[in-house]
Amino acid sequence: MDLDGKRALISGGGTGIGAAIARALHREGVQVMVCGRRSAPLEALCAELGEGAHWTPCDVSVSGSPAKAVDAAVEQMGGLDLLVNNAGVFLAKPLAKISDEELDLVIGVNLKGLLALTRESIPHLVSSKGAVINIGSVSANRPVPGASLYAGVKAAVEHVTRCLAIELGPSGVRVNCVAPGLTETPMSEPLTSDAAMLAEQIAATPLGRLGTPADIAPAVLYLATDPWVTGQVIQSSGGLWI
Ligand SMILES: NC(=O)c1ccc[n+]([C@@H]2O[C@H](COP(=O)([O-])OP(=O)(O)OC[C@H]3O[C@@H](n4cnc5c(N)ncnc54)[C@H](OP(=O)(O)O)[C@@H]3O)[C@@H](O)[C@H]2O)c1
Repeated sequence: MDLDGKRALISGGGTGIGAAIARALHREGVQVMVCGRRSAPLEALCAELGEGAHWTPCDVSVSGSPAKAVDAAVEQMGGLDLLVNNAGVFLAKPLAKISDEELDLVIGVNLKGLLALTRESIPHLVSSKGAVINIGSVSANRPVPGASLYAGVKAAVEHVTRCLAIELGPSGVRVNCVAPGLTETPMSEPLTSDAAMLAEQIAATPLGRLGTPADIAPAVLYLATDPWVTGQVIQSSGGLWI
């Protein structure tokens, strides 16, 4: 895959899809720095991966924290070639019942945090001619009740991807997005534990099953390999949205 020696920062890399991305990149010889709020899953993943795996605490929604995570990544890995904006929180609720705190949380982590971590990474990615890979969601294109906040923000992530691809392309930085469908992780547990919801999702998925975190990693690996591709969204959802 020719990823050997690259250096990747993965937000929310201690669990679920982020951990699967970190494992897949590390298998290809990429140094990985995973960040998130809880140290335990980050430490455990780095112990599992061994050499070339690093972690740093970061709350992407808190001013100053993304800058510290990028500094730690650059210091420990000697530079940055890949930023995977994977950190996210999920909320399914009718808008009328969503509090101001919940608005701040979902927008703060899934959008502001992604923008701040990207902003802090730009000088390093320009110098390495690197790439940003945002983790969106199939929900950005599948309106359902209760999804206005989460899915609306994920739709914004897709548009941010396109805007930044145009903004950063002339500096040699590619920006793309991978949009997972319903995937078995701690985040989706409330959905997958609802039998009716699960049956409906599987019935709507042409490939007929839920995703696993490992299902999402190959699209990220492809986008990490310097293809002549920018500003695109790859659906990794078993065909849930076509
Ligand atoms: N699972 C699905 O069905 C699905 C479908 C479509 C899209 N996605 C997207 O996939 C991405 C990964 O989600 P997942 O399913 O793997 O769920 P997950 O296991 O809950 O992972 C989310 C990660 O984000 C981190 N995180 C949350 N808030 C953070 C913050 N403020 N600062 C830094 N890190 C933070 C969490 O770590 P800490 O709590 O320790 O900070 C956790 O490691 C998300 O962007 C999600 O929206 C998931």
